[in-house]
Amino acid sequence: MEFSTSSVAPEKIKTTTLAVGVHADGQLTAAAEALDEASGGAIGRVTKTEFKGEHGKVLMLRELSGVAARRVLLVGLGKPEELTARRYVAALGAAARALPSGEATDAASALLDIEVPGLDLKQRARQLAMAALQANYHYDATLSKSDKPAPGLKKCVALASRANSATVKQGLREGAAIGTGMNTARHLGNLPGNICTPTYLAQTAKQLGTEHGFKVEILERKQIEALKMGAFLSVARGSDEPPRFIVMQYQGAKGRGSKAPAPTVLVGKGVTFDSGGISIKPAATMDEMKYDMCGAASVIGTMQAIAELQLPVNVVGLVAACENLPSGRANKPGDVITSMSGKTIEVLNTDAEGRLILCDALTYAERFKPDAVIDIATLTGACVVALGHINSGLFSSDDDLANELLDASRRAVDPAWRMPLDDEYQPQLKSRFADMANIGGMPAGSVTAACFLSRFTKGYRWAHLDIAGTAWKGGTEKGGSGRPVPFWVNYFLD
Ligand code: BES
Ligand code: MN
Ligand code: ZN
Repeated sequence: MEFSTSSVAPEKIKTTTLAVGVHADGQLTAAAEALDEASGGAIGRVTKTEFKGEHGKVLMLRELSGVAARRVLLVGLGKPEELTARRYVAALGAAARALPSGEATDAASALLDIEVPGLDLKQRARQLAMAALQANYHYDATLSKSDKPAPGLKKCVALASRANSATVKQGLREGAAIGTGMNTARHLGNLPGNICTPTYLAQTAKQLGTEHGFKVEILERKQIEALKMGAFLSVARGSDEPPRFIVMQYQGAKGRGSKAPAPTVLVGKGVTFDSGGISIKPAATMDEMKYDMCGAASVIGTMQAIAELQLPVNVVGLVAACENLPSGRANKPGDVITSMSGKTIEVLNTDAEGRLILCDALTYAERFKPDAVIDIATLTGACVVALGHINSGLFSSDDDLANELLDASRRAVDPAWRMPLDDEYQPQLKSRFADMANIGGMPAGSVTAACFLSRFTKGYRWAHLDIAGTAWKGGTEKGGSGRPVPFWVNYFLD
């Protein structure tokens, strides 16, 4: 998709569809006001009757006299005093989804010209580009040709004054990269487990690395064995599908040799299907466990976006990818395994496999002498119980790092909520037969999962993001969400 800016007046812009905002009770924004004047009060007549500017509602008007755009899309913003960053982003999404697909391949937006608490102009432009790209994503990889959706938007013009055009252009460029990275993550999540295997994830990372300029190294079973990643391998062994350990490296901050700034390492859980293993899951919604690689997908999408933007940062992306299946070689409850760190683990539940693959990746991360390591995982159902589908769960015992990350998540409108990690939870992981058990019982399940990981993170600043509730949407909109790609790109951008 092509993004650009224009300083032409709203009533004069030639486009198929022009989106303009209307506040609650028919209060027009400046752009809507301009269209109203040019059209002899056509907007006002509608907003006095059928369209009151209710938040999230849209109404398409056609062929207004005195207005150059063929259609005008009124976008409800709700009461001005209630407008928040999240409500603004939701309105952008509603507008983008309301653009007719098929013939209309271009649109213009006058929605940047609205004050939003906590979102400056550049951030609003980012969100505009993201919304356009999100609305344009259609899954069709496994549909037969007749079901392919019509082509969507190709050109998106943001109205901005000349003085603001450079800022808006930059925001659009950043938003386009974020939106593309999100769509990569969504697509990898949506692909079924029989296509999106560990091998497929690795090939995708490799291809994106070649296209966008980051280094990708793929470790196969032999190399993973040589590293003694016993916890990761114990999970992988239950499946015939071979595991992959993916190492992505992006060097944007130069500096010579040991002077090169220490990298941030992102670690993604890449379980391409989680049946639970011998502690098998119930059948009803097991299909959703194809999304158990969304942490990995978000790391890959983030690498793509930061490389595309050539950000001056050093980032390493690590992905441990395998399947969790029951078989004659799968982990059994009571098995004791030895992790790469040398610590032994009693596997009391084979469905707590994410932490087993992540703990070895966290040990591997030490070799990069990182500035910080953050793992991202669809780790626990308990996190969904605690935070639902709105906030990701953020865990860290480092207050500065946690606050930096929470700030980035707020700026990105990709919310996270800090969860506790007190030492007092640690005893729940006691085992009689190993250094620790892989589960901590029913109370505070997402916290004890984080406590488990914390034991493998002694050498660096560390945080953990549980995205079990936020990485995909259920219901009629079923599909990957692309989160937390905006979170990470914002972290590295600002
Ligand atoms: N992948 C799941 C977590 C999950 C569950 C994500 C539901 C999204 C929705 C993870 O591997 C898992 O099965 N965790 C167990 C841990 C338990 C056995 C301690 C869980 O949450 O039930
Ligand atoms: Mn599991
Ligand atoms: Zn899992």
